[in-house]
Amino acid sequence: MRAKAGVGALGLALLAILVFLAVSSWSRQPAAARPSVQPITFPHNVHVQTYKIDCQYCHADARRSEYAGLPSVARCMGCHKITAADKPEIKKLAGYAARSEPIPWMRIYKVPEFTYFPHKAHLRAGLSCQTCHGPVETMTTVGARTGPRLANDLLNLVGLRPAPPPVTMGWCIECHRRENAARGMHAPLDCVTCHH
Ligand code: HEC
Ligand code: HEC
Ligand code: HEC
Ligand code: HEC
Ligand code: HEC
Repeated sequence: MRAKAGVGALGLALLAILVFLAVSSWSRQPAAARPSVQPITFPHNVHVQTYKIDCQYCHADARRSEYAGLPSVARCMGCHKITAADKPEIKKLAGYAARSEPIPWMRIYKVPEFTYFPHKAHLRAGLSCQTCHGPVETMTTVGARTGPRLANDLLNLVGLRPAPPPVTMGWCIECHRRENAARGMHAPLDCVTCHH
């Protein structure tokens, strides 16, 4: 009788933990980035591979500031006033230019407001864009699953150690530890450098 009640209580506690993890994980899930969500279907592969345009030609702030930045409509139009002007997606682009409206791109990679991530320091340390963003040059649309996931939380709970998903705190810290050990870097591990 006592044993049964014990098991019941344990089961209830486990259930409570699972529900807590599920809710906390889902509530932190960023909006899913799907190709159909972008206002213009922008193909990275065509621009980077076929036409050899450098990442930093379009994301020009990466080496000198916190943000990588996105190209302005004017920068796109520098080529597309003429190039592929008859294509439907380029007509959409020309529409934004004619109305002097910025393109409302949907954001994919994002750290929370209370976290500091500077691109500049990471590029100075010699990391390539692909280390963190994957093979963008092959993508027709940039996609990524970032942030905490329920499956990872559960695997951690049972003692397995899956690689932390991109842009979680574990992902930052794991690389900082690795870089400090392997290359004598001074990547921060203290709370206040990343949170202030
Ligand atoms: C011709 C301009 C251009 C070039 C060249 C370019 N990009 Fe982009 N990039 C964009 C535009 C426009 C977007 C926003 C639309 C999208 O997400 O597809 C974007 C989005 C991104 C994003 C997602 C940003 C977010 O919302 O989190 C990443 C990461 C990125 N680019 C990395 C790269 C890398 C790495 C390269 C080089 C291999 C590169 N880009 C080359 C124009 C460019
Ligand atoms: C340095 C020149 C250059 C810049 C800058 C540039 N593009 Fe392009 N883009 C090209 C070329 C070249 C093609 C291939 C055209 C073709 O296949 O006919 C292309 C293709 C495209 C296509 C595919 C068109 C289709 O349906 O086949 C889209 C969409 C596009 N660009 C959007 C953009 C946007 C949005 C920007 C700004 C963020 C941009 N481009 C900036 C040169 C450029
Ligand atoms: C050390 C990992 C890392 C490297 C290296 C890196 N990024 Fe990022 N990138 C991130 C993170 C994390 C975010 C989200 C930052 C935020 O929310 O402020 C991000 C955001 C972005 C964004 C969208 C927001 C913005 O900052 O404008 C673009 C575009 C981007 N990166 C492009 C690039 C390009 C291009 C390179 C190479 C020149 C690069 N990144 C190198 C981790 C990285
Ligand atoms: C792929 C490896 C890698 C990842 C992932 C990474 N970093 Fe770093 N980080 C570094 C390296 C290397 C340095 C430079 C250390 C040096 O200069 O000695 C650095 C430096 C920093 C600095 C110090 C900047 C300065 O001005 O000194 C901050 C802050 C930082 N990272 C925050 C983050 C955050 C937040 C994330 C996750 C969103 C992150 N990093 C992800 C490798 C990484
Ligand atoms: C290298 C950068 C870095 C360092 C160092 C760091 N954090 Fe974080 N932290 C992050 C990032 C990035 C997130 C956002 C994670 C996400 O959205 O999943 C975060 C999220 C958090 C959160 C929100 C809860 C969560 O998991 O989303 C808390 C609380 C937190 N950090 C506390 C700390 C404390 C305490 C320390 C020192 C022991 C610390 N952090 C050190 C990068 C860092």
